[in-house]
Amino acid sequence: MATVRQLFDLTGWLSVVTGGSAGLGLHMATALAEAGSNVAICSRNREHCEAAAEELRKHGTEVLAVACDVSRAAEIEAFKDTVMEHFGRVDVLVNNAGRTWWAAPEDIPLERWQYVIDLNVTGTFLCSQVFGRVMIRQSRGKIINIASASGLVGKNPEVHNSLAYNTTKGAVVNFTRDLAVKWARHNILVNCIAPGFFLASRNRGRFEERKEKILGEIPLARPGGPDDLKGPIVFLASDASNFVTGAILSVDGGVTAW
Ligand SMILES: NC(=O)c1ccc[n+]([C@@H]2O[C@H](COP(=O)([O-])OP(=O)(O)OC[C@H]3O[C@@H](n4cnc5c(N)ncnc54)[C@H](OP(=O)(O)O)[C@@H]3O)[C@@H](O)[C@H]2O)c1
Repeated sequence: MATVRQLFDLTGWLSVVTGGSAGLGLHMATALAEAGSNVAICSRNREHCEAAAEELRKHGTEVLAVACDVSRAAEIEAFKDTVMEHFGRVDVLVNNAGRTWWAAPEDIPLERWQYVIDLNVTGTFLCSQVFGRVMIRQSRGKIINIASASGLVGKNPEVHNSLAYNTTKGAVVNFTRDLAVKWARHNILVNCIAPGFFLASRNRGRFEERKEKILGEIPLARPGGPDDLKGPIVFLASDASNFVTGAILSVDGGVTAW
C-alpha cells in the first residue's frame, strides 16, 4: 500500500499545461512543479511563455515553454513533437487555454461565437487527441479539462453575459465524461475542474465593476486565488485519484451549491 506522500508525488513526471503562461494555467503549472513534475507550457505569446517558464524553474524541475495556438492542429502536433523530443513521455495533460466573449445572445457575431468554440471546445478535443495518442501508447495518462461553473447552470446576464463561453464549458463537461468512458480501456483517466470566479489578469476590471454582484453569488464571499486550484489539480494529476474518472470537481466557493 502506498503512503499519502507517495500517492501525491509527481517526481519525474511530465505535465503539459495549455495556456500555462498566465492566470489559472500558471497557478496549476506551479502546483504541478511544486509536486515534483517537469512541466511543458504553451501559449501564443512566446515571450510571456518563456517568462512564466523562468518562474516555474525556480521550483527545481525542468520546464519547456513553446509558442502554440491550441485552436490550430498543426501547431499542437509540433508542440507534442517538441515535448516528446525533450521528455519522451506525457503523464498529465491540462486543457486550460480558453477565452470568452461578452455580448447579449442576440448580439453575438458569428465569427466571435466560432472563435470561442474553436478554442474552448475544438482546442480541448485536438490537444486530447494528439497527446492522448501518446498516452494510449503508454497505456496510462491523466487528462484534466478546465470547464467553469458557468458550464453547469444558466447565469445572470448582468454578471455573466457570455452565452458562447457558457455553451463551450457545458460541452467540455460532457466531453470529459464521454472521453473518460471511451479511454478507460487505455488506462487514461479524464476529469474536469469547474472553477468559479478567479481573479486573473483578463477579468480584474470586470470584477471591480461588478464586485458586489459577483461576490453576492459566492457563498464564501471571495474570488478564487492562486492557491485554490493547487490541491485539486495535484489530486487529479497524481496517483491519489487513480479510481476517479469522468468526475466534475467544482472549485467555486459554493457558487453552484445553491
Ligand atoms: N478566471 C476565471 O475566473 C475562470 C473561471 C472559470 C474558468 N476559467 C477557465 O480557466 C482557463 C484559464 O482562464 P484564465 O482566467 O486564467 O485566462 P487568462 O488569464 O486569459 O489566461 C489564458 C491563458 O491561455 C493562453 N491562451 C489564450 N488563447 C490561447 C490559444 N489560442 N492557444 C494557446 N494558449 C492560449 C493565454 O496566453 P496567450 O494570450 O499568450 O495565448 C494565457 O496563457 C480558461 O479555460 C477559462 O475559461 C477561468
